Amino acid sequence: MGFKKDFLWGGATAANQCEGAIDVDGRGLANVDVVPLGKDRLPIITGKMKHLAFDEEHFYPAKVGIDFYHRYKEDIALFAEMGFKTFRLSIAWSRIFPNGDETTPNEEGLKFYEEMFKECKKYGIEPLVTITHFDCPIHLIKEYGGWRNKKMVEFYQNLVTAIAKRYKGLVKYWLTFNEINMILHAPFMGAGIVFEEGENEEEVKYQAAHHELVASAEATRILHEVDPENKVGCMMAAGDYYAYECKPEDVFESMKENRHNLSLIDIQARGYYPNYLLKEFEQKGLNIEITEEDKKVLKAHTVDFISFSYYASRVARAEKEELTAGNIFESVKNPHLEASEWGWQIDPLGFRITLNTLWDRYQKPLFVVENGLGAVDTPDENGYVADDYRIDYMARHIEAMRDAVEKDGVELWGYTSWGCIDLVSAGTGEMKKRYGFIYVDRDNEGNGTLARSKKKSFYWYKNVIATNGEDV
Ligand code: BG6
Repeated sequence: MGFKKDFLWGGATAANQCEGAIDVDGRGLANVDVVPLGKDRLPIITGKMKHLAFDEEHFYPAKVGIDFYHRYKEDIALFAEMGFKTFRLSIAWSRIFPNGDETTPNEEGLKFYEEMFKECKKYGIEPLVTITHFDCPIHLIKEYGGWRNKKMVEFYQNLVTAIAKRYKGLVKYWLTFNEINMILHAPFMGAGIVFEEGENEEEVKYQAAHHELVASAEATRILHEVDPENKVGCMMAAGDYYAYECKPEDVFESMKENRHNLSLIDIQARGYYPNYLLKEFEQKGLNIEITEEDKKVLKAHTVDFISFSYYASRVARAEKEELTAGNIFESVKNPHLEASEWGWQIDPLGFRITLNTLWDRYQKPLFVVENGLGAVDTPDENGYVADDYRIDYMARHIEAMRDAVEKDGVELWGYTSWGCIDLVSAGTGEMKKRYGFIYVDRDNEGNGTLARSKKKSFYWYKNVIATNGEDV
């Protein structure tokens, strides 16, 4: 017995990395639009460099993305051809509320996603909707300072109410914030935070995270009230930390790193702050405002399921040594693992370990909503990409996931591979870091026809779905 009969196979995208069309049909400007390709990207996404408008010297990949806004019908037809049961996408907040603090939503924005959901339903594809995937209307950043301000909870609730009501019956699976723990690493993407000189950055990040946690709990409440059929999940960037050596100091370090990574999910899943985090606030002198009312809301509206991305495991060591890249998380290089061209370490067994960690810790159904290999694809003279490296990565991860389900008894609802169609990289802004089964003719500098074509992995994944993960 492998995956359940109704296992939700599919793929995942995010509005800001594929839609483009950032200034049409009343859409407002968002933080993700003004994040450029190139060396300034990192300081901007980490909140160290203020950059809230376009300029001449940078290239902004989100402006066009892969033009999913105009081509989604063609793309969803391709997903249907692969046999997708689900399609994960995100809503661009500034399409629904262009400034973020209006009280009446933008009809054209609401209509766009409604049509898209109907298109999915036409093929029997269940939409899986991320309410916020790294995006925030720029007005909310300029006017209120982003998620550092508690007023954001109210604005977010307006967004959730509008979409919950409008898409009732069309959408059942919801995720409140993409990779909520990313706020601790890339706070401009995670929470629209730009640091001011001299402020306590950790305090700002945790205060913003607290506001998102309350907003997430309120969203869970609203979605359940509007339709008791709704299933609401949290979403984290997962990947267990291993101890570099078996010496207790390294083991302790890995425990700390794992907790650091899981802390916000602990709250969304259990409904209260874990003691270790409160102690950390105390020891570091972080003054986080958490009201009694907030505590009640967190407690009353925990999530129905836990979703996560998994790309790599990580390593912690008491004495920091050589660090490797990996989703802007710090990790010591693991000498036992190979890495992708971007330095992300490849570890299928680590996927099984992570699935077990999350299941053991929360005892709530899991949903893998991102996994995949970012690689350079070179089309042959006929434009065909034979991406055996991607097939190999995914096959080994799907096997590990099957082991977690079949041999370990992990409860898993579904799997959506990241970037099922090539899209803009969140970390680097590149197009050449591709994850898709579908190739998009566009390069880092914005050249190309945007034409879609099927890679070898397209046919491979179609068969994986057709055999419900038996034949990988
Ligand atoms: C996750 C994000 O962190 O990883 C995605 O949720 C992102 O938005 C994905 O695209 C892969 O990262 P990158 O930097 O290769 O695009």
